[in-house]
Amino acid sequence: MRFAGSHVLSVEQFSREDIEQIFKVADSMEPYALRKRVTRVLEGAILGNMFFEPSTRTRVSFGCAFNLLGGEVRETTGFKSSAIAKGESLYDTARVLSGYSDVICMRHPEAGSVAEFASASRVPVVNGGDGANEHPSQALLDLYTIQKEVKAKGGSMDRLRIAMIGDLKHGRTVHSLSRLLALYECLDVVLVSPGELAMPESYVENLRSAGHRVTVSSELNQSISQVDIVYSTRIQEERFSSKEEADLYRGRFRLNQAIYTKYCQPNTVIMHPLPRDSRSDANELDNDLNQNPNLAIFRQADNGVLVRMALFAMILDVVDQVDSHSRDVNWYHRRANE
Ligand code: ASP
Ligand code: CP
Repeated sequence: MRFAGSHVLSVEQFSREDIEQIFKVADSMEPYALRKRVTRVLEGAILGNMFFEPSTRTRVSFGCAFNLLGGEVRETTGFKSSAIAKGESLYDTARVLSGYSDVICMRHPEAGSVAEFASASRVPVVNGGDGANEHPSQALLDLYTIQKEVKAKGGSMDRLRIAMIGDLKHGRTVHSLSRLLALYECLDVVLVSPGELAMPESYVENLRSAGHRVTVSSELNQSISQVDIVYSTRIQEERFSSKEEADLYRGRFRLNQAIYTKYCQPNTVIMHPLPRDSRSDANELDNDLNQNPNLAIFRQADNGVLVRMALFAMILDVVDQVDSHSRDVNWYHRRANE
């Protein structure tokens, strides 16, 4: 695809070649993300960050990624502090905010809303999560992490074995990730969820028709015994009609060190898009895994900055100028010196 000036609304936009291009640019962002060098390539550019649902990682890492490229960030969080609360339409909001920004990231609780906003926007829009539909930048950073983690263990993406666990019905990260995984070869995908929260058939069919082996299960222990990646997810409480309904499923699949030791292979990588629900009635990834070297969740979150920097550099067409607008940093940064 042509990245310059494009919206990023769905992973369906990407071919395998596009993904490899994004990952190559993401690799080149490492000196900047690690504060070994600074670049001002996006000096004067403004990111409009509009988050109408709670977010820690996506909102902050999109903002940091833009700042690390030298741009400025303006934010709106929640409907209450936006004129949408006064009845303003997405169309008008998009027309107005795209006059103030060079690129916009948006999260919204309704599926399709970010695409609707983008159709009225005068600048590129990146989908930061639209309801239970998609979370494309998360899927890119998940895939980037999977690739890095399996390569470090001598494996490859093709023939990867992965278990996706939890609320696969409402989880937008697994929806987007499954579509990206379908682009690779001969995968073994195990989908573990309560029957009522199964992966929608269209995603399962997409994997199967691309030649991958898909196993559907509602049992955890055996499902994680033959995989390279365990990708755990949270029960998406905000998509249920009541907390009580979500409570029926919370805590159904818990991974802790004892279960990992008993059932997983010694090299199995543990991932989660985060936030993990650490309340005692959920606790899908126990804190006793925190010292497990195969727990990749924080490396995964860190990778979000690299991938989002790459997306901005490609959308604003400055990939070839990043280094020529850079210099060494003049402060001490701990991670750069690790
Ligand atoms: N943070 C991810 C999302 O917004 C996953 C989650 O919230 O469970 O989709
Ligand atoms: N993974 C993710 O989207 O996290 P946030 O909801 O905190 O943005």
